[in-house]
Amino acid sequence: MVMETTKIPDIPIPASRVGLGTWAIGGFQWGGADDDESVRTIHAALDLGINLIDTAPAYGFGHSEEVIGRAIAERGQRDRVIIATKGGLERRGDALFRNGTRRQIFEEVELSLARLRTDYIDLYQVHWPDPQTPYEETAEALRDLKREGKIRAVGVSNYSIEAMERFRRVTPIASAQPPFNLFEREAEVDIIPWCRAHGVATLTYGALCRGLLSGAINKETQFSGDDLRKVDPKFLPPRFEQYLKAVELLERYARERYQTGVLALAVRWVLDTPGVSVALWGTRHPGELAPLEEVMRFRLDDEARAYVEAVVAETVHDPVGPEFMAPPERPAEAAPHMGAPL
Ligand SMILES: NC(=O)c1ccc[n+]([C@@H]2O[C@H](COP(=O)([O-])OP(=O)(O)OC[C@H]3O[C@@H](n4cnc5c(N)ncnc54)[C@H](OP(=O)(O)O)[C@@H]3O)[C@@H](O)[C@H]2O)c1
Repeated sequence: MVMETTKIPDIPIPASRVGLGTWAIGGFQWGGADDDESVRTIHAALDLGINLIDTAPAYGFGHSEEVIGRAIAERGQRDRVIIATKGGLERRGDALFRNGTRRQIFEEVELSLARLRTDYIDLYQVHWPDPQTPYEETAEALRDLKREGKIRAVGVSNYSIEAMERFRRVTPIASAQPPFNLFEREAEVDIIPWCRAHGVATLTYGALCRGLLSGAINKETQFSGDDLRKVDPKFLPPRFEQYLKAVELLERYARERYQTGVLALAVRWVLDTPGVSVALWGTRHPGELAPLEEVMRFRLDDEARAYVEAVVAETVHDPVGPEFMAPPERPAEAAPHMGAPL
């Protein structure tokens, strides 16, 4: 298998066009994860030629980063791996709030470096825009961390074009990370074309729409513990049946036309979208990466693309986006008490 690669600005080595997503490896919001299995998954990904690993402190409150740190320490060859992590979410109890202040970012980078057992982060991305902090302040923080050598490239995630325009007046943006898959296509309207026009690499997330496009989910599938798919509106009535029907039709088409499954079709559809640099594919089981070989052996032509898009449009009557995942802004601080205590 020949892995497709791409160039991410400020990253000296080519990046694999499929990146390993490690949100579920953090366990939290995914019903828990088995760390040894996760380490085997990371090693399997590296063996298959996936050299970009996307993570965040938000994934299991640091646990995903710790598991990646362990996996890379056990494997060695740190310089062959592109670690893409994020910052800008503040933990309060078991909740996360947007916080793009300089202080927050500087604190988080140190914690990420320690958890990842490394002295530099290849790509540091702002996880979500924080409307309570000027984008320029966040950009200055990342610019300064890059100057210090703690991070090599600066990225953003879930940013609007307006936010990216302001941000890049302070420091260049190497990458943007929007959601993008066959069921969540908003980014193709503006974000991806803008990135393409401005030399910003795109690491699109959720290639399988949280597993929905894997072909392994059906009406009987039960999610355990705190798995966020229990509250994901795509996995609930009345939409769940519509999405499953689309998956069934896509699976049939993938078999007939390409002798592959819906998963490979879905990842290929993302990769063949002009302007997509990397598709992030989340998994915590090594065997789940087996279809990668099929993904790398075909391309979607215009006719196939139009067909799969029509299937989705005709089957999913009541589409919904990934907005339910967006973390809230920080709650207003309690007003400082003025005057004498009552
Ligand atoms: N920047 C952001 O705000 C943001 C938001 C979301 C995601 N992301 C990034 O993008 C990555 C990918 O997104 P995602 O993890 O949410 O979702 P995804 O890639 O769309 O789907 C991941 C899930 O699909 C299932 N799956 C994967 N391969 C499979 C296979 N071969 N057979 C059956 N099921 C399979 C697994 O579910 P099970 O584990 O249950 O088997 C896996 O956890 C994340 O891990 C994260 O790095 C970023």
